[in-house]
Amino acid sequence: MRNFLWGVATSAFQIEGNIENDFTDWENLGKFKNDNADPRYENGSNHWDLWETDFEYLKELNLNAYRFSIEWARIEPTRNEYSQPAIDRYHQMIDKLIEMNIEPIITLHHFTHPSWFHSLSPWTDASSIEIFTKFAKKMIKEFAPKIKFWITFNEPLVWALAAYGDAKFPPGQKDLYKVMDVTYNILYAHIRIYDMLKNFDEDIKVGIAKHFVIFKEARSWFLDKSLANRLHQFFNVMILDAFRTNTLEIYFPFLLDYVSYLPLDNKIDFWGINYYYRLHAKFKINYKNPMELFAKNPTTDMGWEIYPNGLKKIIKLVSKYDKEMIITENGIATDDEKLRIKFIKKHLKVVSKQIKRGKLLIGFFYWSLLDNYEWLEGKSKRFGLIHVDYENKFKRTFKPAAFIFADLIKKFKTNNNSKGKIKSKAI
Ligand code: BGC
Repeated sequence: MRNFLWGVATSAFQIEGNIENDFTDWENLGKFKNDNADPRYENGSNHWDLWETDFEYLKELNLNAYRFSIEWARIEPTRNEYSQPAIDRYHQMIDKLIEMNIEPIITLHHFTHPSWFHSLSPWTDASSIEIFTKFAKKMIKEFAPKIKFWITFNEPLVWALAAYGDAKFPPGQKDLYKVMDVTYNILYAHIRIYDMLKNFDEDIKVGIAKHFVIFKEARSWFLDKSLANRLHQFFNVMILDAFRTNTLEIYFPFLLDYVSYLPLDNKIDFWGINYYYRLHAKFKINYKNPMELFAKNPTTDMGWEIYPNGLKKIIKLVSKYDKEMIITENGIATDDEKLRIKFIKKHLKVVSKQIKRGKLLIGFFYWSLLDNYEWLEGKSKRFGLIHVDYENKFKRTFKPAAFIFADLIKKFKTNNNSKGKIKSKAI
């Protein structure tokens, strides 16, 4: 039996620094200033310079896996021109992880794009499929001999909604039908990349990291219930179902009526679960703004409700699709370490019970290793197990929760050899 994957997750742009892409372009153009957002990239967490010492921390945390992404804009800064030094650096990183006995899990697309791709109507046009697939092909040639776990896309629907639904990410448009076209094209690219990876090596495991949210009716009124159900269907279930039915389909009264054939043929080996919070849904009799979504206490610095039981519900939902599952992200932004510790313990308790229940759950990744650039909030929200002092040469310091996390994993690994359970006393 393979060891359970215990890891932390990061994304290239959020930590590396020294990157120019569609997000830095937007920041330079002052376009994030809408909606009170004012993120400043300011070299991320300078991981590009400090990666070697950052990787040492993985061992100190008792981890056996690491999820990271590669920055397309760094590798292909100009169309069809690849940067060999950038590719070499990623090789060095991967080699180092392997040498440390840490399973590398690579994400090919985590929200960002080279500027040149961005200027070509990113993902709304079917030509995006070809362009991204070409990049992926090159990456497969480079890294597939070394990497067993591949995540093609991180949260396709979240990106599509942020970029084309509520205009928060570049290119900042508001058109729900474009959200669907973009999701369609991304999933189409997934099919192509899945086939390429499997042709290269049948044993490679390919997944998507999908965001899940618990939607609860705000009142026990049928319209709140039906709203919560619709949101659940759209946000959580639509993509899962599409892999089984070969149809990307959603009906959301007054907002969306979309159906399109998509030959996914169940081409996925594992579902990545990114889970953070619950939302309460209230129907409003208002044509322009028919819903209100809100969180209840306790909340994190992101204003997200802490609801560990939701993780159990999501695992239950996804397990029906009968694929392996990895919790590819779960974490909290807070400056209150007691709260972070509580959050981790409660979610790991759910994980521990689920591992005992079946074989489908194969890994857990805390988001994130380091404090980093959090898309719309910039550096103000701290998800890391390791504190980054942005004012002092990006100095790293372990937070108290890091020790607890490391300790729980150690206990888990020891107990797992006998019973596979985190003792409740430890939690
Ligand atoms: C994303 C991460 C992000 C995290 C916290 C996930 O949706 O994949 O990039 O930092 O949530 O917001």
